[in-house]
Amino acid sequence: KIEKNVPTMEKEPELLNILEVDGVPLPVLSKEWWDKICNFQAKPDDLILATYPKSGTHWMQEILDMIQNDGDVEKCKTDHSLHRHPFLELKFPHKEKPDLEIALEMSSPRLIKTHLPSHLIPPSIWKENCKIVYVARNPKDCLVSYYHFQRMASFLPDPQNLEEFYEKFILGKVLYGSWFDHVKGWWAAKDTHRILYLFYEDIKKNPKHEIHKVLEFLDKTVSEDVVNKIVHHTSFDVMKDNPMANHTAVPSHIFNHSISKFMRKGMPGDWKNHFTVAMNENFDKHYEKKMARSTLNFCPDI
Ligand code: A3P
Repeated sequence: KIEKNVPTMEKEPELLNILEVDGVPLPVLSKEWWDKICNFQAKPDDLILATYPKSGTHWMQEILDMIQNDGDVEKCKTDHSLHRHPFLELKFPHKEKPDLEIALEMSSPRLIKTHLPSHLIPPSIWKENCKIVYVARNPKDCLVSYYHFQRMASFLPDPQNLEEFYEKFILGKVLYGSWFDHVKGWWAAKDTHRILYLFYEDIKKNPKHEIHKVLEFLDKTVSEDVVNKIVHHTSFDVMKDNPMANHTAVPSHIFNHSISKFMRKGMPGDWKNHFTVAMNENFDKHYEKKMARSTLNFCPDI
């Protein structure tokens, strides 16, 4: 089923500025800001969370925050998730300053999120050998989630309809560029850097198992009670009712939850409710071509 003629919302005039870097469209304020991002000075104890958009960034953020706070839910509820940890390259319309400035003022250890492809990461992150958690998600679900997100986020271009967004996604003509290049780039980077590469679908299937992987990667030990608490606090049902995690605190002219919720479906396979047979076959062909030479064994047909 394809949604046609999605009603357009009253868009705020303030769309994020889009800067093309190496052919990748990025939501970066200006060339000067891009230079500042490139010159960002990482610290060895910075923890970086990298994802392609709509791959479960805020889910993993909540998991990492719970781990860093030893399972203390109250500490993870001190602020809205968009405010708790900065997004390296972004300036949100409802914030006074770019997140980069917020990151510079933060005390260590910092948790910093980014959607940048691996080849555009500030060099100091590699140089300081920062630990990086990367989460990848089935591209078909990413596409559908991204489409709905662009409908509800007034600072992003209106996606028009699913067919148009589908074409742009396949060609990598959406913000942050090609999903295929993103997941492959980070997959290759993990051979030479401290990167824990995780999959959204695995976390969904066995959150405890994946949380244990994260704990090991971070050299953290917590009791099994705490692990259970993390699983519970970061489950979709709990996060969707947590105002510090579900983005309902963001002003409605920025995130319009009446169009689509940020915590929308939270499950693998929703693409089946959106793709036609032809769209699916075409996507699979494209996937084969783009992923042929990668050792990344990502099954798009979950
Ligand atoms: P859907 O739109 O498919 O529901 P990001 O944080 O990278 O923007 O990703 C958002 C996607 O992750 C949304 O997907 C959202 O519902 C999903 N998500 C957020 N928290 C989740 C959780 N605890 N469990 C499963 N999915 C979650």
